[in-house]
Amino acid sequence: MKALCWEGVNKVAVENVPDPQIRNSGDVIVKVLRSVTCGSDLHLLGGYIPFMRQGDVIGHEFLGEVVEVGPDVRNHSVGDRVVVSSFIACGKCWHCRREEYSLCDNGNTNPDITETLWGQAVGGCYGYSHAMGGFAGSHAEYTRVPFADVGAFTVPESVSNERALFASDAGPTGWMGADLGGVKPGDVVAVWGAGAVGQMAARAATLLGADRVICIDKYDYRLVMAERYVGAETLNFERTDVGAELLERSGGRGPDVCIEAVGMEADADGAQHVYDKVKQQLRLETDRAAAVRSAIYNCRKGGSVFILGVFAGVVDKFPLGAMMNKGLTVRGAQMYGQRYTPMLLERMARGELVTEHLATHTMSLDDGSQGYRMFKEKLDDCVRTVFVP
Ligand SMILES: NC(=O)c1ccc[n+]([C@@H]2O[C@H](COP(=O)([O-])OP(=O)(O)OC[C@H]3O[C@@H](n4cnc5c(N)ncnc54)[C@H](O)[C@@H]3O)[C@@H](O)[C@H]2O)c1
Ligand SMILES: [Zn+2]
Ligand SMILES: [Zn+2]
Repeated sequence: MKALCWEGVNKVAVENVPDPQIRNSGDVIVKVLRSVTCGSDLHLLGGYIPFMRQGDVIGHEFLGEVVEVGPDVRNHSVGDRVVVSSFIACGKCWHCRREEYSLCDNGNTNPDITETLWGQAVGGCYGYSHAMGGFAGSHAEYTRVPFADVGAFTVPESVSNERALFASDAGPTGWMGADLGGVKPGDVVAVWGAGAVGQMAARAATLLGADRVICIDKYDYRLVMAERYVGAETLNFERTDVGAELLERSGGRGPDVCIEAVGMEADADGAQHVYDKVKQQLRLETDRAAAVRSAIYNCRKGGSVFILGVFAGVVDKFPLGAMMNKGLTVRGAQMYGQRYTPMLLERMARGELVTEHLATHTMSLDDGSQGYRMFKEKLDDCVRTVFVP
C-alpha cells in the first residue's frame, strides 16, 4: 500500500510499504478516510525528537472505516466509521483505569528510550518515533489499530468526516487543557497558540463556562478564525504588550487559567528567541519554551498553567521563581483522548463544536511533501493539511 514516510530531517515521501495485518486479538484494521497533520509532526520532522528511522510511516490523527476485526474485538464490526485516538492505550492497566490514557503502561512496546529520558515510559502513539513505540502512522491507505475497543470510536452518522477527524487528537487535547487546567464558570482564560490545538482549548474553555477567553498568536489569519469560529478574543503578540493587555482584560489580576498550545519550537521577540534558537541548534537545550515562560509570568497569583505543547527534554530559563512564589499550579500531559472523545463526538453532533475550518487544505498522500511545507511555513493561511489516501 501507499504511505507517507519520514525520509530525513524535513523530508517526507510516498513509499510502497507492506499492508498492515492483525497481530493481536484486539486489533482492527482501518481503511484510512482522512488523516491530518499536527504541530507534533513538525517537532518530529524538524529532528527535535531524534528517534525516527528512514521509511517510518508518519501521521497520528485519523478517521477510517473498519475493514478487518480481531477475534476479541467487541465494539466494532466491518464497515464501522471510526475516529481513532492518537495515543495507544490498553484500557486495563492502573493508569488506564484512572483514565490517564497517554500514561498507559502497555501502550508503548518500546519503553526503554522514554524510561531513560523521563524516568518512566509513557504510552504509545501512531507514527511518532521509536520512542513512542515505533507504531506505523496513519498517513497511509490502511492502519492497524491495537486495543481497538479502547481507542476507536464509532462516529455518529450526522457528523462529517472533517468534523469527526478532530475528535482524534486536537479536540481532546484542547479539552484536556481546559478541563485539567481547572477552568471554572466566570474565569478569564488565556491560550498561547491559535493552531488547531489552541483553538480547541479556547472552545473548550468557553463551553466550560469561562467568561473571557483570549487567544494569543502572531498569525492574524488564525486569530480571525479564533474570533469567528471559536468566539474568542485575540491578541497578536508581535503587535501588543501581552502582559499589559492580559492584566487589562482580567480586572488587573491576570488570567485565572493559562493554556500553552505552542510547544518546543515557540517564537519569541528579539534576544530571547536568538538565545533559545542557538542553544537548541547546539543541543544545549532541547526545547524553546518562550510561550511557557510567558504563561507562567502572566498568570494570576494562585492560578493554573496547563502545558499542552510538546516538549522533549530540558529547557533553559524556566521561571521557577514566578511559579513557586506566585503559588501556581503547573501541569502538562500528552492527551488522555479516550476520556473525552465520546463526549466531543456528541457535542459535534449537536453543533457545539465545529472544526471544519481547521481543515484548510485537502490533498492526496502524493502531495504530502507540499502539504507539510505549507503547514510548517504557515503558507496560504494553512492551519492543518488533511490527506485523503
Ligand atoms: N499534549 C498533547 O497531547 C498534544 C496533542 C497534539 C498537539 N500537541 C502540541 O500542541 C502544540 C500545538 O499544536 P498545533 O497543531 O496547534 O500546532 P501549530 O504549529 O499549528 O500551532 C502553533 C501556533 O503557536 C504559535 N506560536 C508560536 N510561538 C508562540 C508564542 N510565543 N506565543 C503564542 N503563540 C505562539 C504559532 O504561530 C502557531 O500558530 C504543538 O507543540 C503540538 O506538538 C500536544
Ligand atoms: Zn497530534
Ligand atoms: Zn493501559
